[in-house]
Amino acid sequence: MRNFIISIRGGRPLAGSVAVAGAKNAALPELAAVCLTPEALELANVPQVEDIRVMAAALRALGAEGQGEDALPDGPRGHRLRLAMPQLRAPLVTPEIARTTRASVLLLGPMLARCGEARVSMPGGCPIGERKIDFHLLGLQRMGAEIRAEGEYLVARCRRLRGIDFSFPGKTVTGTENLLMAAALAEGTTVLRNCAREPEVADLAALLVAMGADVEPDGEETWVVRGREALHGARHRVIPDRIEAGTYLIAGCFAGNDVRVEGAEPAHLGSLLEILAAMDADVEVGAGAFRARGGRRLRPAAVVTEPYPGFPTDLQAQLTTLFTQADGVSRVRETIFNDRFRHVGELNRLGAAIEVRGDEALVRGPARLHGAVLRTTDLRASAALVLGGLAAAGETRIENAYQLFRGYEDMPGKLQALGAEIAIEEE
Ligand code: EPZ
Repeated sequence: MRNFIISIRGGRPLAGSVAVAGAKNAALPELAAVCLTPEALELANVPQVEDIRVMAAALRALGAEGQGEDALPDGPRGHRLRLAMPQLRAPLVTPEIARTTRASVLLLGPMLARCGEARVSMPGGCPIGERKIDFHLLGLQRMGAEIRAEGEYLVARCRRLRGIDFSFPGKTVTGTENLLMAAALAEGTTVLRNCAREPEVADLAALLVAMGADVEPDGEETWVVRGREALHGARHRVIPDRIEAGTYLIAGCFAGNDVRVEGAEPAHLGSLLEILAAMDADVEVGAGAFRARGGRRLRPAAVVTEPYPGFPTDLQAQLTTLFTQADGVSRVRETIFNDRFRHVGELNRLGAAIEVRGDEALVRGPARLHGAVLRTTDLRASAALVLGGLAAAGETRIENAYQLFRGYEDMPGKLQALGAEIAIEEE
């Protein structure tokens, strides 16, 4: 894996508009849905990020073919991706794929549903804490799959999945998505309860319906799926990435900045807008766009990460960086992952004053940030460190920065367009 260093000369005001790409966390399950039919899926507004490239490569290894256009999003047609899986040759997810993105677990349900077998390399531990998949496996076992560990692989087999009435023991985004896809081809009706309510789940459901699946919501946390014998090809446009939009909206709240975020869905960011209002940040919400201007004294606030529609854990690190500029003590409680404060040590090297106590971080502000050499560990921490570097006086260098490209389409380019002095060099 090529690696990069991002260097930033901070303290320059950001001004202008930034367009939001398609949601990585909607496109990933929607790519996995290619396994559910021999016909082509055509996805528009697919973000050009590493996790998508890895998932597309995994699908090609399973037998998927790009038809006509180049099958990767950065092909000649940019953000449009067209893939078909005429037959699913080898239902295997290798360690290389599983190590690069945990989202490869999303292939488990579709492979089982399509050909009754799946071998998935156990996704290694990842930098934001233990990432269990026991809820995924419990649901698939209840649907009739026999699942056992063989070395570093998880092997799942079943003649045909059958519909169940299943309540998730806890909220899981990819677990909900895995079982929605498995149920679409199962025998009989499946009722999934206590499902994740993230917008990306509903976007996947919309694609499944376009493919001929019988999927409908029953309230906010329950889906009813009547299994079909087969699904057909479809075209679908991926929803905008609310986490990318929230990241740039937060960037606009730093002193001296004035950023318009376009192509986002305000309804998906209610919890962030509430926190920014509590901080007295200068944010305007328009149709499909936001505008944030720094310059007001920011009040401290308290945030707890929760499943949607609560405050998203994927914006926790970025908000923590903004909290370093608030006038007082802010509190951050991370309840989704057990190790998602890796950015705190790095932010403190920039001059922040953050103290972690268990699942809570106390952020004392305002802190005058100065440049430093940092090393990032995960995708969203990378974004938090970039925001810190933009606010810091002097030069900040962020090592291991390939992480940023896993989930943000051309962030350095988008920030340069806003006036940032930011460059990338190979490590
Ligand atoms: C999805 O991960 C997202 N990834 C994550 O975004 C996001 O942080 C997370 O949801 C929470 O919103 C994709 O959609 C590809 P979970 P996922 O299953 O599905 C526990 C990013 O930066 N759990 O909702 O893997 C789990 O340990 C990424 O874009 C179980 O115990 O998360 C965690 O504590 C990072 N057993 C919590 O639930 C299970 O079987 C939420 O996990 C599944 C989950």
